[in-house]
Amino acid sequence: MKASVLIVGGGIIGLSCAWEAAKRGFDVTLIERDAIGGQASGAAAGMLAPFYENGEGPDDFFRLCVDSLLLYPDWVREIEAAAGIDTGFVRSGSLHLALHEADRQPLLGRLAWQRAFGARGEWAEGAALRALEPAASPQARGALFSPAEGHVNAPKLVAALETACRGAGVRLVDHAGGLSALEAGSGSFGVRAVTDSDAYAADLAVCCVGAWSGGLAEWLGIRVPIHPIRGQICAFGPTAPRPRHLVFSSQAYWVAKGDGSLVCGASEDDAGFDRSVTESGVGRLVRWGERVLPMLRGLAPVRSWAGLRPATLDGWPLLGPVPRSPNVFLAAGHYRNGILLSPVTAAIVGRWLGRGGGPGERGLAAFAPDRFDRSSAWAEGIPG
Ligand code: GLY
Repeated sequence: MKASVLIVGGGIIGLSCAWEAAKRGFDVTLIERDAIGGQASGAAAGMLAPFYENGEGPDDFFRLCVDSLLLYPDWVREIEAAAGIDTGFVRSGSLHLALHEADRQPLLGRLAWQRAFGARGEWAEGAALRALEPAASPQARGALFSPAEGHVNAPKLVAALETACRGAGVRLVDHAGGLSALEAGSGSFGVRAVTDSDAYAADLAVCCVGAWSGGLAEWLGIRVPIHPIRGQICAFGPTAPRPRHLVFSSQAYWVAKGDGSLVCGASEDDAGFDRSVTESGVGRLVRWGERVLPMLRGLAPVRSWAGLRPATLDGWPLLGPVPRSPNVFLAAGHYRNGILLSPVTAAIVGRWLGRGGGPGERGLAAFAPDRFDRSSAWAEGIPG
């Protein structure tokens, strides 16, 4: 008999893990409280930009992001082929603009460590920058060009994964209601999840409930310090010229989508679980657009929306089996990089399901889901 896996959460991470588990021959059920892909995954701009998102240095998180970017082309093509849906994946390259002289040095410093790491980034300015990206403001002092970055249409990727999962025999239960219990012992007990409307049992479970993960703490017996950070985002209609690359400034980013729209994101505000859009949040994006991409002057967005990023205390995801409930794997807290990190998260979960990976897997200790318990135990030990 096939071993069974319960995936809790129907965002991009849950769907990616379900797809991986189904390919590995598991009997997979996915439960989603509301609509599949109805939260952060469906709201995302779909940026695949580890070089922009990591300014610090080649740490474990940067490496995780780059590993995932490397997996993307084959991963997405496989899903597209299984689903018959084009996800709009494109390796457009990106330009991180220095609008002021003060922006230049930090970007050159970033370029230096990224090149030392092996990335093919370059610095562009003057006529070379104008030729590379005619849409960018002539005021830009220069830009860090990262040719490996790109983007995907996140709602289409969600739809493709959903279709691929169904085709692979995954039972997808949407509008399952909130979890009212998750019982997971050690050894051969398995896992039992109870929702408002039903109960589900499986040998193993993977919890991927994004910004709502904090509610799992009482059942998992660890601190799960994940909280929602709202991202307000908007889209303009077709523009001329259209940016050829992902364009970043220190305050916002712009992504030209295959349907002609130009998506601009995103605020980072702490508004609890409120997903509404504010005038000031979108107004700020509009003002930055006028400075960075002159063709946006005088244009108003045709649509605006918001999503809730799952942020952890240290900004890194929680990836690993739960020490007291080793039949449960936590895959949450991907914050700004859920779309990017989906393939690598699915691969890590796949190795765990195959019992080939776990807490000792190379490079994964930094993402251990119980790391916040250990740090508070350490802090409590400091002599007063
Ligand atoms: N990944 C971009 C954002 O979170 O806004």
